[in-house]
Amino acid sequence: MVTALPPPPGPRSPIPGGQMLAFRRDPIGLLTRLSHTYGDVVRYRLGAERITLLSHPGDIQEVMVSQQRNFTKSRALQWAKFLLGEGLLTSEGELHVRQRRLAQPAFQRQRVPAYGASMVATTQRLQQRWQDGEHRAIDHEMSHLTLAIASKTLFDTDVEAEAQAIGTALTTVLDLFPRFMLPLYNLIAKLPLPSNRRAAQATHLLDTIVYRMIRERRARSTESGDLLSMLLAARDEEGDGSGMSDQQLRDEVMTLLLAGHETTAMLLTWTWYLLAHNPEAEAQLHAELDTVLGGRLPTVDDMPRLPYTRMVLAETLRLYPPAWIIGRRTIEAYEVGGYALPAQAIVVMSPYLTQRDARFFSDPAAFQPQRWTPALEAALPKFAYFPFGGGARQCIGESFAWMEGTLALATLAQQWQMRLVPHHRVALKPQLTLRPKYGMRMIVQRRSGH
Ligand code: HEM
Repeated sequence: MVTALPPPPGPRSPIPGGQMLAFRRDPIGLLTRLSHTYGDVVRYRLGAERITLLSHPGDIQEVMVSQQRNFTKSRALQWAKFLLGEGLLTSEGELHVRQRRLAQPAFQRQRVPAYGASMVATTQRLQQRWQDGEHRAIDHEMSHLTLAIASKTLFDTDVEAEAQAIGTALTTVLDLFPRFMLPLYNLIAKLPLPSNRRAAQATHLLDTIVYRMIRERRARSTESGDLLSMLLAARDEEGDGSGMSDQQLRDEVMTLLLAGHETTAMLLTWTWYLLAHNPEAEAQLHAELDTVLGGRLPTVDDMPRLPYTRMVLAETLRLYPPAWIIGRRTIEAYEVGGYALPAQAIVVMSPYLTQRDARFFSDPAAFQPQRWTPALEAALPKFAYFPFGGGARQCIGESFAWMEGTLALATLAQQWQMRLVPHHRVALKPQLTLRPKYGMRMIVQRRSGH
């Protein structure tokens, strides 16, 4: 009997709102302390909500896969509906199943390679703007790059000219994220605050761009095989045979634009940071690129010959997973690790925490790309490493992201190495993705002889 079990252990916050402040200031620090103190299942309070953090791979696997029918997405994602509407990331139930079926063909293994050439060409254009020794906000550079790649490959449009404006608009909206952890967030969202006005303007700008993309593509009669044309051509055969409404298309395009670029941009940003601090790993990466590519641009066919490049990315995804927390809500009462959760309980799982757990990774804080041997991958419990989630809601863009990360890193690291600008502070800003709080200002240095 589920009800006979006790609730999960956790702190009783003595100061009203105390935990909320600690959470807003440093959510990862708070969650780390809680899991160290209370173990693999811990319940904490955030405002009026009780939230259960699960840190053990076995428990995570149950939520994400074997018991997934008992879960919906949680509030953080309901917040994202503000921007993303009912797109793939945020929709539930039948609608999600249908949209996933329609979008899947664009992400099939055979299709993704066609995007490779475009990824390399876009990266090549970016680096042509760089000068040896200059300071650059590498987080912005990587965001521009991945935004340009997503819009070109998925929607066959160029937004390079607007990349700056889109980036700023997305940041404005994402900055509201912590607020959605607050009680009464629905009310706060309706107040005439300057931040709400800015967010509404930012959403309007993004809407304008996305609707323009859809309009332009409807007017073009050629079928270019990208995701947008597939979505436009899709018909709901099981329903009334109609296509997607403009609103639904808008939600999918906005979702893929955001989910498809922000995460990969953060992956590359943290990779540059880690390489700058680990010269041995950096040298090994350079050696692989020089041997395999010998100065030419990479192609999709080179990917199997760049195992170390992939290990570097795998290790960055372990230490700085862009999707650092994944949330769900129970539908029915649920039992986990010997504890009872009621219906409608919020459950969170953090790739950041579990992937730094010494039970599964030796010397867990160290950046060691070489740890990613086939033997480790075989020995690792499922969901000790889950940067792309799992189950029915697993990232649809995973192979796209691996390809993009590998080709962009291979293109850029052949010619450049990055060093942090002296005295630049680096700290975590865990929002919807794991961003660097003060940005990532780096010196771009041309490698000698390249
Ligand atoms: C390093 C890069 C990426 C990371 C770490 C990442 C991570 C994730 C994670 C953890 C989820 C599951 C969220 C949950 O279960 O609540 C997810 C879902 C999703 N991702 Fe990614 N992602 C990446 C790149 C991409 C790319 C390149 C695209 C598209 C081109 C994409 C599109 C999506 C979509 C549409 C979903 C929702 C899938 C669904 O619920 O059916 N992602 N991603």
